[in-house]
Amino acid sequence: MNKIIITIDGYSSCGKSTLAKQIAKELNYVFIDSGAMYRAITLFFIRNQVDLTSVTSIEAALNQIELSFAYNAEKGTSDMILNGENVEVPIREMAVSNQVSQIAALKEVREFSVAQQQLNGQKKGIVMDGRDIGTVVFPQAELKIFLTADPEVRVERRYKELQSKNSAVTKEEIKANLEMRDYQDTHRDISPLRKAEDAVLLDNSHLNMEDQLQLVLGWVNDKIKKAS
Ligand code: DC
Repeated sequence: MNKIIITIDGYSSCGKSTLAKQIAKELNYVFIDSGAMYRAITLFFIRNQVDLTSVTSIEAALNQIELSFAYNAEKGTSDMILNGENVEVPIREMAVSNQVSQIAALKEVREFSVAQQQLNGQKKGIVMDGRDIGTVVFPQAELKIFLTADPEVRVERRYKELQSKNSAVTKEEIKANLEMRDYQDTHRDISPLRKAEDAVLLDNSHLNMEDQLQLVLGWVNDKIKKAS
């Protein structure tokens, strides 16, 4: 059976990674969370106080960054590894969430990340989620999904997720962070978040995860048949 490339783009906290992981598991495909890569770069920049106004400093910092993913058997998914360190927990913290969109808007950071993401797709059989995957990283992807959900639903989901990790973040902080990131991600100069013309729009505000998965697997199977 032919393997395809599946892209899932959309606003923050719409459940892109959750859906991508489920599809990858069903199909035995590779799942890549491109947001985790931008988050790991952001963590490195914060820790090393990189001067965002200096291209030389940004390039020097990127030259010191090595990103990879390590399979976590307990979770059944991959953790983000930054220079040999498992950073899956710190990259999800508010300090990173508050800066990541600004750092992800930098030209050098995008070029660095996109090049690595494209290498991962060479053999197809991949599900990647992010903001520019269907438009810039894999414009040739066989199935492109643009995921959206009502803002209140997204805040509620994120709140529950962070609470389950014992985070003391309030709903107001989450709402402010999501609004800020959506604004920055859609208004940046380089590869802003937008729906690719050939992407399927999926609003999951009122869909449960199982129904969503079955719906998407139907689309996937159609595309795989066409690619065969
Ligand atoms: O998917 P996420 O919320 O973990 O992503 C974190 C940030 O990274 C997001 O606010 C914007 C940026 N990002 C991006 O610019 N391009 C991508 N392909 C993925 C994420």
